[in-house]
Amino acid sequence: MLVLTGIGTLVTNDVTLERGKLGVINNAALVVGDDNKVALACEAVNLPRKLRTNAVDIGGRAVIPGFVDSHTHLVFGGDRALEFEARMSGKPYTAGGIRTTMSATRGASNDTLAENARRLANEALHTGTTTLETKSGYGLSVLDEARSLQVAASITSETTFLGAHVVPPDSQIDDYVNLVCGEMLAQCAASAKWIDVFCDRGAFEVDHARAILSAGAKAGLGMRIHANQLQHGGGVQLGVELGVASCDHCTHLNDADVSALADSNGSTVATLLPTAELCTRSQFPDARRLIDAGVTVALASDCNPGSSYTTSMPLVISLAVLNMNMTCEEAVWSATAGGAAALRRHDIGTLRIGANADFSVLNTPSYIHLAYRPGVKLVDAVFRLGGCVAGSLL
Ligand code: NIG
Ligand code: FE
Repeated sequence: MLVLTGIGTLVTNDVTLERGKLGVINNAALVVGDDNKVALACEAVNLPRKLRTNAVDIGGRAVIPGFVDSHTHLVFGGDRALEFEARMSGKPYTAGGIRTTMSATRGASNDTLAENARRLANEALHTGTTTLETKSGYGLSVLDEARSLQVAASITSETTFLGAHVVPPDSQIDDYVNLVCGEMLAQCAASAKWIDVFCDRGAFEVDHARAILSAGAKAGLGMRIHANQLQHGGGVQLGVELGVASCDHCTHLNDADVSALADSNGSTVATLLPTAELCTRSQFPDARRLIDAGVTVALASDCNPGSSYTTSMPLVISLAVLNMNMTCEEAVWSATAGGAAALRRHDIGTLRIGANADFSVLNTPSYIHLAYRPGVKLVDAVFRLGGCVAGSLL
């Protein structure tokens, strides 16, 4: 049993407490049971006397649920620093860069891919990410997609088959879609929980995306979609029609897209990835418009070597607040409970009683500092299932 007391601000995301969207308890205590779940979250003065003896006083620091980063691409070889440099000199971002990483990924051993993915997952953990989703999508052959997913499965249970990232060189699109829906899916499904398609300019059209997502669903995978990142298109509406868990990017939306997402009543989440816009110098998605329409919004890092080479959810939160008109409260919710909703998980993203004891201790008194102090290291210690997995309480 672990008992923390002296918590300046505890974010529980427990709406039943009737303390706002974040379920904030000031001057709080948090108790983790022997089952590694949250056993109690309360005001410190209400902590039962028998639990006080071994309580650790954290001196007024804030505690928040672990970040749930529901969209990353950690399995790849090489990097694209030169492409980034060229972009910063004025060259536009295109989906075609994915093929550069495909070559480097095909040339990398399983050990090298796993080492790189683990390094990035560990980097994410140190900034407070306790759950992450990650995708294949840089192999683009049956063999290389299957081994990418095995690597992905070695770092997380939230694995996504993204054979339909782009069409590899020397393939015809119809042939490639048939391969993705047939042999590639068959070889990848065992290591994947989700299927995803990049439905956008330079990647896949709506009809192909529909065929691929439907084949994945038939094979028992959950669906998610990269949609409306580079231009307006039918990806978001297709996603809602198919009942995907999440439409990711959502940068270019019209009113019908926003209404479709809102009408899904939270069953399809809009996952916004502001570091992708930051690193491609693109316009940010309009989070305010989505939230005001009643859409459930998640925030994620999109960590990948092309459009967003960062694992930092605190950076994502600052951008969402400073550039996308989200409130501090909304951004923290979207990076925790919102990510959990995008993965259809009920055991993570909150610190209500019975949830996994995944949380971070910040070196600040409040969650507000995540946006207020951009770029500063604010996470002192990270706990997963009640155990300290990064940093320390000292
Ligand atoms: O989510 N948009 C598609 N996939 C990635 C970028 C991939 C790349 O450029 O390597 C993304 O931004
Ligand atoms: Fe992505």
